[in-house]
Amino acid sequence: MSNSLLILPGDGIGPEVMAEVRKVIDWFGARRGIAFDVSEDLVGGCAYDAHGTPLTDAAMEKAQSVDAVLLGAVGGPKYDKLDFSVKPERGLLRLRKEMDLFSNLRPAVCFDALADFSSLKKEVIGGLDIMIVRELTSGVYFGEPRGVFKEGNERVGINTQRYTEGEIARVARSAFELARARNNKVCSMEKANVMESGILWRDVVQEIHDAEYPDVELSHMYADAGGMQLVRWPKQFDVIVTDNLFGDMLSDVAAMLTGSLGMLPSASLGAPMANGRPKALYEPVHGSAPDIMGTGKANPIACILSFGMALRYSFGKGEEADLLERAIDKVLADGVRTADLMQAGDKTPATTAEMGDAIVAA
Ligand code: NAI
Ligand code: MG
Repeated sequence: MSNSLLILPGDGIGPEVMAEVRKVIDWFGARRGIAFDVSEDLVGGCAYDAHGTPLTDAAMEKAQSVDAVLLGAVGGPKYDKLDFSVKPERGLLRLRKEMDLFSNLRPAVCFDALADFSSLKKEVIGGLDIMIVRELTSGVYFGEPRGVFKEGNERVGINTQRYTEGEIARVARSAFELARARNNKVCSMEKANVMESGILWRDVVQEIHDAEYPDVELSHMYADAGGMQLVRWPKQFDVIVTDNLFGDMLSDVAAMLTGSLGMLPSASLGAPMANGRPKALYEPVHGSAPDIMGTGKANPIACILSFGMALRYSFGKGEEADLLERAIDKVLADGVRTADLMQAGDKTPATTAEMGDAIVAA
């Protein structure tokens, strides 16, 4: 099977971190004989500058046809005053919406060399490797009715949490599949104690489990208690599956347990395509970081790890993804640090390119 990849570097530090991913892709081609059919296009502010839209129809079509899309970041102060309809973020939102990427994967992994970097104690965080699966296309961010309305002589703000059985079932399957490839354990989080949509969520997850994944260990937890458990003893979890709103918060909490924004990858997956691979968009969690753009301070690891997730979830290259993660582990253990990973006593930071080169060498 060929491996087609669309690269959308975007704005700010996006192109800078993507240049380091290119080195990794070239290494896999030269040293492991894995050919990637790579194309590149514009997204975000740079696409607006060139075409008057943050994502052209041609780029959208390309994204729909490839095995995986890898995006850097979009946005920047230059575009803050643009009309809402052409803002850089709209390019990213269009990709997520038209590809129907309902399952958002956010790993929280503690690299040994960075265990001191966490706000939690080393024994709590050391060896952590969990995955949060957040429903991304429904729930309270999309439900109708919504808006600010006048009721008598005061205003009311309304958003609606709405989930269909099908929407819950597909993200639950995504979590159970992941668990089977990991440690066979899923914890589902909602607020079934106070929300009817939470009762349905719990019921559907349990039903999918009993009918299709009885081999996976399933537990349920209220999302607020889940937040406490995440900072108390995160290693009790393997895969967590939750809705859009709770997932937004819990994935940010879990991710920051392990250190810098410059280290965090993500994947957003949709339904399987004709070749069996899921529609997929991979991107670092961070934004375009205009404050450090052009200074060589950007940490490329989040974007490189996002490519690692593409290796694992789109290209069927789990061993290669492991290899890449081990290389990053080694580089960090050797003390190579970009500016965002510096601690008191560290020497001069590595530049973006030096970090990329060190990972390729490792
Ligand atoms: P940001 O993530 O770009 O930056 C937050 C802070 O983290 C900054 O101090 C930045 O220098 C630092 N940082 C981020 N990534 C880093 C990396 N790889 N290495 C080292 N340091 C890093 O978020 P911010 O400042 O709120 O937004 C900046 C722009 O990015 C805005 O236009 C925003 O709309 C956009 N944005 C885009 C996202 C995306 O493309 N997915 C996500 C978040 C923000
Ligand atoms: Mg968020």
